[in-house]
Amino acid sequence: MDFSLSEEHIMIRDAAREFAQNELLPGVIERDEKQHFPKELIKKMGDMGFLGMMAPTEFGGGGMDTISYVLVMEELSKIDASASVIVSVNNSLVNYGLATYGSQAQKEKYLSKLTTGEKLGAFCLSEPEAGSDATSQKTTAIDQGDHYILNGTKNWITNGGSADYYLVIAQTDKEKKHRGINAFIVEKGWEGFEIGPKEQKLGIRGSDTHSLIFNDVKVPKENRIGEDGFGFKFAMKTLSGGRIGIAAQALGIAAGAFELARDYSKVRKAFGTEICNHQAIAFKLADMQVEIEAARHMVMKAAWDKDQGNNYDISSAMAKLHASKVAMDVTVEAVQVHGGNGFVKEYHVERLMRDAKITQIYEGTSEIQKIVISRGLLSD
Ligand code: CAA
Ligand code: FAD
Repeated sequence: MDFSLSEEHIMIRDAAREFAQNELLPGVIERDEKQHFPKELIKKMGDMGFLGMMAPTEFGGGGMDTISYVLVMEELSKIDASASVIVSVNNSLVNYGLATYGSQAQKEKYLSKLTTGEKLGAFCLSEPEAGSDATSQKTTAIDQGDHYILNGTKNWITNGGSADYYLVIAQTDKEKKHRGINAFIVEKGWEGFEIGPKEQKLGIRGSDTHSLIFNDVKVPKENRIGEDGFGFKFAMKTLSGGRIGIAAQALGIAAGAFELARDYSKVRKAFGTEICNHQAIAFKLADMQVEIEAARHMVMKAAWDKDQGNNYDISSAMAKLHASKVAMDVTVEAVQVHGGNGFVKEYHVERLMRDAKITQIYEGTSEIQKIVISRGLLSD
């Protein structure tokens, strides 16, 4: 067993760390306040190769492994989780879905633009009445021979307003339940495709979250992904990998908050000494670091499973369940270590605490991860 990172992994991690410090840190508070993530920064992330990390090189991707991807996700998330969710959705949901299950024509037309950051992707499964209960899709796509007619509403879609290409899951045959669901590539600007208002959020406020409305949108048959009826499995298989990205995001949020708390405790004085010299604070830091390290091992194990070709449905669910809890616990403690300053925006930890919460909700809530894990445990 080898716990060391390769030279290449270290280089990629350090490049992401430097990018986060130089490009994401300036303006992160303002982006949170204004609920805005500028296009220029998306372009810069594309130029760094962060938007197509694991996709095949023949379609403009980096051809990197999942370990590299989680290292980048952790570093970006330490500073700005609104930036890292863009990276996560584009890489592990949209690019992965197209690279693994798309046709050659779909890959040439869509994937090759998504990997470079020229175009941005969104993954559209959730609906007002189908979040955790994802098989209860109300959006319909009716087969009309050479095309489908798409109708319905998707909720809380990340990159909803800023994406160019949308992977949309819809019911094509209600009688067949989850086997009557398909996934489609829909382009922004198609007639009948409307972008709803931006959500006002607690955390990841720089991330662009919208509902999407489809009114008789004509989707060519060649834009269906995979065989007829493959859409639900497509979503589930894609989300297994997506959960590794969100677990890495949660890890980064926790690690970022820890670093701020550790540094603050070494300079803030109370009762004539730096607060880290009070055992209550030093032990808090120790507890935080133990939890972070455990989460890091789980995230790495899930990424390694994926890279090895092992089944990663369970390891990704466990990594997300644990890392998101750690993100919540550690950020709350980081605010506590900062005292009153922890409650103030310029010290960053209050934002990290708000951002941490979403990691327990999206890409399957913590309760849903427990369903996935327990079914996996009991299925043998
Ligand atoms: N791989 C392949 N197939 C899978 C699978 C997997 N990981 N998980 C389930 N399936 C298949 C099952 O085998 C079954 O198919 P067959 O009957 O043909 O064998 C079918 O899917 C239905 O499975 P279940 O009976 O287990 O379905 P269920 O209704 O009990 O739901 C669930 C299962 C795990 C709870 C699922 O609905 C789920 O994951 N819900 C959460 C949805 C979610 O994560 N949404 C995230 C949206 S994207 C997002 O959030 C992005 C973002 O924020 C940035
Ligand atoms: P519900 O399913 O209504 O759940 C409510 C509560 O009940 C939760 O605590 C849940 O865990 C619990 N619960 C439900 N069923 C069970 C059960 N069987 N057993 C035990 N507990 C249960 N979706 C996308 O498709 N694409 C995106 O890009 C995307 N981005 C998002 C970004 C943000 C900021 C947010 C807030 C959401 C995003 N989502 C996205 C949606 C997200 O995936 C869903 O919110 C999530 O899956 C939960 O669904 P729900 O909100 O309908 O909650």
